[in-house]
Amino acid sequence: MTLGACERFVADPGQRVAEAVLEDMRRDSAARWAATWGERHRVAARPGEPGLYLALAPMDGITDAVYRRLLTDQFGGRSGISLCVSEFVRVTRDPVPAAVLLRDVPELAHGGHTRAGVPVYVQLLGGDPEPLAETARRAAELGAPGIDLNFGCPAKTVNNHDGGASLLRAPQRIRAIVARVRDRVPEHIPVTAKVRVGWDSSDGLEEIAVAAASGGAAWLTVHARTRTQLYQPPVRWPDLARARASIPIPVVANGDLRVPEDLSHCAAQSCCHAFMIGRAAMARPDLFAVIRGARQDRPLPLAELADILRDYHAAMRDDGLEPGRAVARVKQWLRLAAQLDARFEPHFHATKTAAAWPPIAEHLAGMADA
Ligand SMILES: Cc1cc2nc3c(=O)[nH]c(=O)nc-3n(C[C@H](O)[C@H](O)[C@H](O)COP(=O)(O)O)c2cc1C
Repeated sequence: MTLGACERFVADPGQRVAEAVLEDMRRDSAARWAATWGERHRVAARPGEPGLYLALAPMDGITDAVYRRLLTDQFGGRSGISLCVSEFVRVTRDPVPAAVLLRDVPELAHGGHTRAGVPVYVQLLGGDPEPLAETARRAAELGAPGIDLNFGCPAKTVNNHDGGASLLRAPQRIRAIVARVRDRVPEHIPVTAKVRVGWDSSDGLEEIAVAAASGGAAWLTVHARTRTQLYQPPVRWPDLARARASIPIPVVANGDLRVPEDLSHCAAQSCCHAFMIGRAAMARPDLFAVIRGARQDRPLPLAELADILRDYHAAMRDDGLEPGRAVARVKQWLRLAAQLDARFEPHFHATKTAAAWPPIAEHLAGMADA
């Protein structure tokens, strides 16, 4: 499909992809998915490239450089992760100074890759094209391998100040921001966008997708929920097929991908063959390698997660993070893991009021499956 053909959705915002178009796409998609799944051991560097693309989702307060290093270092650097996206860097009136970019995304000092060589895209969040574009230019100059633009953050403080998901209500502004950023960074550096399916319904998803694509996004990642849903069910994988059919760039599916079989279910419903995974990695840091068939598919032994949490804490302290913040991040990890896997619940509850590391370390030492 050419970009020109997509423009009709811009002209008529209410227009949806016709059911017949979706039917054709689903038929075609099934065979292509079988081929992609057959090649899942191969790490696609970008969506649409040979192999399977599996990105590590950005999660503010969790997926800092230490977390990214820990996850991508697994199995001698063969973690199965195609690409990481940084936690969002907030851009308001003025461009963000280089020093702040280097502090928030320290991989920039190492060519924009984790120690294991996985690219880290710098995610920017804001509503004003000019400071966003200038910040993107600085990030690119510092070595960012790609720039991702956040139009999905549901936080009230962010949305009330013209950022994140609030832009979903103004697709033309998404287009303007993507276009300005695209224009400002060198051509070989991809500019991508991350959205939700809409603010309070997915009715405008085609228009949002077309806005990002026509602004020049290299691909679009869609968290399959509306802003008003926050993180509540249901996840709307079938809606993603409409985004997929509207634009000529790859659509990366995101939301509630927890076990390897979820990818096939999601692919069948969404026709998307590239994925981003966030919270599930807290309960199963090996999930990417498991999906690729490189590791056994079994629940992570509790003692292994305890080891990972100890490494995480030690690495954060080595990196100079203050003790209270390091403890808070370990507890946050356990909290999210407990939401996904009930085995972690008693361990989250046993540690959640600890203010310092020693009692948590003591608890982790005894953490094992019964
Ligand atoms: C604690 C937390 C922080 C998040 N921070 C970001 C962020 O900085 N940027 C972003 O684009 N998405 C952020 N997200 C959304 C995730 O990237 C992802 O879209 C969402 O968790 C759904 O995917 P999952 O079900 O695989 O976790 C965050 C999610 C959580 C739970």
